[in-house]
Amino acid sequence: MKERKKIIIDTDCGSDDAMAIAMALNDERYEVIMITTVSGNVRLKQATANTLTTLKVNNSYYPPVYEGCNDMLVRDWVGAAETHGNDGMGDLDLVDYSLKPQEGHAVLKMLEALRDAPADTIDVIALGPLTNLALAIKLEPETMKKVDKIVIMGTAGLGIGNVSPVAEFNIWQDPEACKIVLDSGIDPVYFVGWDACLGDAMLNAREIEEIRNGSEIGKFCIDSNIVLMDMNRDRFGENCLDMADPAAMAAALYPECIDKCEKYFCQVETNSGLSYGGVLVDFYHFSGKQENAYICSKLKADMYKDYIFRNLKVR
Ligand code: BDR
Ligand code: CA
Repeated sequence: MKERKKIIIDTDCGSDDAMAIAMALNDERYEVIMITTVSGNVRLKQATANTLTTLKVNNSYYPPVYEGCNDMLVRDWVGAAETHGNDGMGDLDLVDYSLKPQEGHAVLKMLEALRDAPADTIDVIALGPLTNLALAIKLEPETMKKVDKIVIMGTAGLGIGNVSPVAEFNIWQDPEACKIVLDSGIDPVYFVGWDACLGDAMLNAREIEEIRNGSEIGKFCIDSNIVLMDMNRDRFGENCLDMADPAAMAAALYPECIDKCEKYFCQVETNSGLSYGGVLVDFYHFSGKQENAYICSKLKADMYKDYIFRNLKVR
């Protein structure tokens, strides 16, 4: 049997992170060798409890979970209670707080794994603010260059922001960390933009019900998104879910579902003001600067959703 590709998931585990984590755990071509947590949607300890609960409900295998940064590099933590609930999981009492992470700091454990492995054998998939990754790069830039690739849910892609006219939450929550990643020289770095999970890629009411009724982990993934679903019903007049982290996970693990992904010079705004946390994508190459990141801005919706269904054990 072919050896499974190793991945590290870095997460601020809210409700869409949970779905993405379950998808990875259930894809037999991959081995999640550790999950590292960071503040973002919720504070660090809550993100850890949510991650551990997701592993328990999914009940496949149990990669070690390590806690990372509670504070962002420069700005204060803000969170996303209005999108994911106060506990990040829809405030439905779904979280098992008795579960505990492994000893050790996430950043050091991530570095240890990469140091000990041959180059280009481990992918890092980041589903939250980039604080842990930035610290790891600052501590040991050459070790971090051993990754095969980094795939990040972040940026507005080629579209508009979800927390400001130009910024997407994960980048806006720690723009200085994003700058460190962009300036690191690590290649390739992929950003799966907010635009990639909109339009046809959103789960519609029928698909949501299919997932909810299809498996225990499917039910958990939909129930925990109840706050987002309520918000979307107000905005769009119907049940639908924009699943940002699952979009990034699918792009990372099943790149065949990517429709549009190009390499650009990208620069994150770290000055305060309305564009703080926005990522400028030099689409027409005005800057003349070397491309430093891929922006994935569109998925093939049918293939992407089929990947979700298969890996939530619904089909
Ligand atoms: C991102 O922010 C969080 O709300 C989600 O978990 C996702 O990682 C979307 O902007
Ligand atoms: Ca997230």
